[in-house]
Amino acid sequence: MRFSLSILARWLTITLCSGAAAQGGSFTPGAVWLDTDGHPINAHGGGLLQYEGVYYWYGEFKTGRTYLPDCNKSWGGTRVDTTGVACYASTNLADWKNDGIVLAATPQDPTGDLAPSQVLERPKVVYNAATKQFVMWMHIDSPSYGAARCGVATSDRPTGPFHYRGSFRPNAETWPVNATAADQQAAPTNYLARDFHTGQMARDMTVFVDDDAHAYLFYASEENPVMHVSLLTDDYLRPASQYARIFIGRSMEDPAVFKHGGKYYLIGSGCTAWAPNAARSAVADHPLGPWTELGNPCTGPDATNTFHAQSTFVLPRPGHPDEFIFMADRWQQWHLPDSRYLWLPLEFNSDGRPIVRWQEHWSQE
Ligand code: GAL
Repeated sequence: MRFSLSILARWLTITLCSGAAAQGGSFTPGAVWLDTDGHPINAHGGGLLQYEGVYYWYGEFKTGRTYLPDCNKSWGGTRVDTTGVACYASTNLADWKNDGIVLAATPQDPTGDLAPSQVLERPKVVYNAATKQFVMWMHIDSPSYGAARCGVATSDRPTGPFHYRGSFRPNAETWPVNATAADQQAAPTNYLARDFHTGQMARDMTVFVDDDAHAYLFYASEENPVMHVSLLTDDYLRPASQYARIFIGRSMEDPAVFKHGGKYYLIGSGCTAWAPNAARSAVADHPLGPWTELGNPCTGPDATNTFHAQSTFVLPRPGHPDEFIFMADRWQQWHLPDSRYLWLPLEFNSDGRPIVRWQEHWSQE
């Protein structure tokens, strides 16, 4: 009896562990990833911050019923009520401790930006060494995604609580550095011109901090066909009135930006809501561009739909100086809380293009 119990225990251990997304320093992209309490990690559309030897993973905490609001029926924009931004901490990128909700929704304020009925997506946190503030940028929207605004929150600790400072559309009364005369004279149907006085639309976004401490906000704008990249003020709290239009007409979403060998790289996707599509990569000599597209960085089975996922962040791979880790979300459109994560190594081809190879399992070593 004792013998069979021990066999059962061992079988259970192997079975449960082999289903986990990260175990003993090895990753299984797309599998359920448990935190150190044994609960599935819940931090979607996320990003990582490394601070004083600890990694912090911030993302959308998705819970409750997935539903399709009438206003989004035409394009399948399912959602859950907004709960807030979750934070997890790790020293090895595999084992994550839940640090709770660091920016909470406000059911007590049903008309505010953080009301459960509103949209809060793709939170990214950066640290400002000059102000010693942790600054969170996020996509804030109305249920129909018509508001298209940036939200900003700050904290003096990585684990929050974050203080919400409000939302806005960036770059009102400012033309992009690369605006043409035609852009400036465009009819009101041109979003750039139409939004000149009120600020530019901002949806999927990320923040990139350069080695010189300048920070840049990348966001899908002009109803999504054009991405904007905006230098932030030195405190990282506002746009600094210097921005550029990039990937014009390409409908690039979910930007993930990183630097390698003195060049800037961006990975994003096309614009097909929760459905996956082929990832895109691009390179530039400066965050404000010009950017040159390099094609789909993914290779292997289902590379044409990013292995059924959508990029969200790229971070340097510890111990591998020329490599990165590509983070993506495998969305479950009709059960959003069960959306999974897909982390894969990102390397560079001999021709300098980033490449992400599909692997069922891989190890950090
Ligand atoms: C995606 C976007 C997600 C979310 C979704 C809504 O295109 O990347 O962050 O907004 O659409 O359907």
